[in-house]
Amino acid sequence: MAEKIIVTGGAGYIGSHTCVELVKAGYDPVIIDNFSNSEPYIVSRIEELAGQKISLYEGDCADPALLREVLGSSDQIKGVIHFAAFKAVGESSQLPLKYYRNNLLSTIELLEALAENKVSNMVFSSSCTVYGQPDILPVTEETPQKPAESPYGRTKQMCEDIIHDFIKSGAEIKAAALRYFNPIGAHQSGLIGELPRGIPNNLVPYITQTAAGLRDKLTVFGNDYDTPDGTCIRDYIHVVDLARAHVAAINFLNGVGETNFYETINVGTGNGNSVQEVIDTFEKVNDLNLSYEIGPRRPGDVIKTYADVTKSRKLLNWQAEYDLAEALRDSWNWQKKLKK
Ligand code: UFG
Repeated sequence: MAEKIIVTGGAGYIGSHTCVELVKAGYDPVIIDNFSNSEPYIVSRIEELAGQKISLYEGDCADPALLREVLGSSDQIKGVIHFAAFKAVGESSQLPLKYYRNNLLSTIELLEALAENKVSNMVFSSSCTVYGQPDILPVTEETPQKPAESPYGRTKQMCEDIIHDFIKSGAEIKAAALRYFNPIGAHQSGLIGELPRGIPNNLVPYITQTAAGLRDKLTVFGNDYDTPDGTCIRDYIHVVDLARAHVAAINFLNGVGETNFYETINVGTGNGNSVQEVIDTFEKVNDLNLSYEIGPRRPGDVIKTYADVTKSRKLLNWQAEYDLAEALRDSWNWQKKLKK
């Protein structure tokens, strides 16, 4: 019987792609999702891509009764990938308690339930936001953390600490916190992808919605930074690559002999691309013109960041396979299908 992996937030952007990759790797995902920032029809799309039925528990993963029910449903549950969290940077400054309550409580309840049920493997969805603006590039896992720019970023730092402290206290849990850089792209089928609600905060969904005519034009937030073309630099990673990194992390934790283990691992491509390069590549690979203008800087923006990927290669035996052009082609393919 296939090993079952609980995927909290499994109907979300990264979670949905991860469920598909888990099935491809021989695992059986069990989704917990309250659809607060995702759509139920995505679960059917995952099933279509995976070629099998996917167990779904609709509800909040901060609810101990629900966690007990899910964990009690099978003795084949061997791990959890914890995606479920609020993630809008701007909103987190306006509604900090909403972010602290949701993101911290779900992690705490999950840890307690895992320990009680002797489920040892946990992959946590963290972010390169924990580094802030790093002094040295590329960013390694040892790069000192800066104070987070937002309550959202702080919840990622705090959740990492909570997991680590619990493991240090002797809990028999093996955890990997994956610090993602900037996920973009969509499944090549165009069946699953990012579904931003309202006006997108992130660059690539804003670009695709502009190209689709849903937004007038993209504003580039500053072109007077100390970078080769003056625009900010990020490490953009295809969501399918990122999903595969989660499967690799589950495989890795399965092979760890200790009962008590914690690692932080960067997940990026190792390449930095500027906002201008993203625009130029999007236009070129999709053969269209994007309407954009240069605007003022966005407060709190990191100028330049990209990952050192030595650790993910070594520990997870994983590296990104898709490049920026492929990711931007897939983002546009998804957006075009959404428009219909
Ligand atoms: N940008 C624009 N115009 C836009 C949107 C973004 O020029 O309309 C620029 C930003 O200024 C930045 C780059 O595009 O230079 C990327 O911005 P995103 O908002 O897409 O991504 P960020 O790197 O700023 O933020 C992301 C996630 C956060 C996470 C952070 C970690 O959205 O959740 O990475 O650094 F905290």
